[in-house]
Amino acid sequence: MASPTGYIFLRFLLSGSGFCFLLLFSLEKGHALERREILESHHHTVQISSLLPDSSCKPSPKGANKKSSLKVVHRHGPCSQLSRNKGNAPTLTEILSHDQARVNSMHLRLAFNSGKTSLQDSQVTLPAQSGSSLGTGNYFVTVGIGTPKRDLSLSFDTGSDLTWTQCLPCVSVKSCYQQQQPIFDPSQSTSYSNISCNSTLCSQLNSATGNTPGCSASTCLYAIQYGDKSFTIGFFAQEKLTLTSTDVFNTFLFGCGENNQGLFRGVAGLLGLGRDKLSIVSQTAQKYGKFFSYCLPSMPSSTGHLTFGNNGVPSTVKFTPLSINTQNPSFYFIDLKAISVGGRQLSISPSVFSTTGTIIDSGTVITRLPPAAYGALRTAFRRGMTNYPMTKAVSILDTCYDLSNYTTVNIPKIGFFFSGNLNVDIDSSGILIAATSTQFCLAFAGNNDTSDVGIFGNFQQKTLEVVYDVAGGRLGFGSGGCA
Ligand SMILES: *[C@@H]1O[C@H](CO)[C@@H](O)[C@H](O)[C@H]1NC(C)=O
Ligand SMILES: *[C@@H]1O[C@H](CO)[C@@H](O)[C@H](O)[C@H]1NC(C)=O
Ligand SMILES: *[C@@H]1O[C@H](CO)[C@@H](O)[C@H](O)[C@H]1NC(C)=O
Ligand SMILES: *[C@@H]1O[C@H](CO)[C@@H](O)[C@H](O)[C@H]1NC(C)=O
Repeated sequence: MASPTGYIFLRFLLSGSGFCFLLLFSLEKGHALERREILESHHHTVQISSLLPDSSCKPSPKGANKKSSLKVVHRHGPCSQLSRNKGNAPTLTEILSHDQARVNSMHLRLAFNSGKTSLQDSQVTLPAQSGSSLGTGNYFVTVGIGTPKRDLSLSFDTGSDLTWTQCLPCVSVKSCYQQQQPIFDPSQSTSYSNISCNSTLCSQLNSATGNTPGCSASTCLYAIQYGDKSFTIGFFAQEKLTLTSTDVFNTFLFGCGENNQGLFRGVAGLLGLGRDKLSIVSQTAQKYGKFFSYCLPSMPSSTGHLTFGNNGVPSTVKFTPLSINTQNPSFYFIDLKAISVGGRQLSISPSVFSTTGTIIDSGTVITRLPPAAYGALRTAFRRGMTNYPMTKAVSILDTCYDLSNYTTVNIPKIGFFFSGNLNVDIDSSGILIAATSTQFCLAFAGNNDTSDVGIFGNFQQKTLEVVYDVAGGRLGFGSGGCA
């Protein structure tokens, strides 16, 4: 199989030979036409209005009738019942600050587990909580918990393992944050039971949460800290989980959160799609074979899907190997090898990517790259955007344009190459992010430290069918996953 480099080179040669052919045998007109075609095939022409928030919900039909499929909804968009009070939607600066808090905590988890830092360091480096609590993980799904079943909307997160929801009575009024749906009351459910401290299940919390479980009146207690001072603490319990009418799990292990604070406002908790034993992926392995897929919609005004099990992989989906980092077995590591901008591969030493590794995460918004890779991406992108006036940076985004005089914008295509000869074109909705109705920024950022892991974030995953074949050790991407 050709390496990604070989592939690009081949494509370059092919388009180059077409170019020569035209030079030799056609008129000037044909030559110009060919050049325009080359240009167009390496650019997206995007309606600026399509990058701006829409006030009405246009749900995607995909997944609605699919077996074992849940609808994925953006928390702050018009399809969300959780954001009824308008004005609650966070600004881009707020989203980016929470995103950075999440990324910092993931980097710390990785550095801590690999012994590069001490817990003391990590406590010192944890950022202070900013005034408002808005929310980590911007997509949610709705599942049923208990008997009778209560519908609860949970942020879905491939970067963590234990599924939890807020539970009554809560330690005190202030120890549960505001959520849209009624808080789950285990005393009203006939299928709820506590896990005892002496159960071997209790000790599994060590790896799933990164914390030693506690014990209260012989009930096992869990605690998770997510960074930015968000945390959940509560009873480790077993309950009936209803994903769809035909997909019911009677003894699902989850956290019944009695003290929950931080960035979760609106949603009832979190659905943990990591790789640990206690994640929903592992707990439902008998039925779904550790196989799930999702598509995140191009805009908050549309919907996507989260589907469990392998009901046939679309033909557009191609795979790259998933690797396990033994120090951090929860995360999904993939092997990013190269990046292209406007059809040209950036010259970045492969060691830049291989020394840090890359994870795919549904909860991180903006893709983080090693500093050298981001620098090369930014330079090439700016070169392709010289027609447009630049403007001030927004938080971690340093490549922003004032497009107030335009209705469409021509942006260079961006491609990611993964091992296994997998070429993923980032959707046109995943390149520029709106800061205001006229200011748009390149939606990528560099890590500060050359040793920090790269993260393939959810803004760049939009519209892709992302397939996690965990048992098969591979991850797939296909186009048009929400269509
Ligand atoms: C665990 O604790 C429960 C309740 O405290 C007790 O009934 C049970 O016998 C204990 N099991 C073991 C294996 O110690
Ligand atoms: C679960 O354990 C907690 C703490 O021991 C206790 O207050 C609660 O009543 C228990 N619930 C059930 C259903 O046993
Ligand atoms: C928009 O166009 C006007 C008129 O040509 C020009 O004066 C102004 O500088 C332009 N603004 C931007 C941000 O490009
Ligand atoms: C990255 O480094 C800059 C300059 O040292 C610093 O201001 C910024 O806070 C750092 N960002 C993160 C996320 O650590």
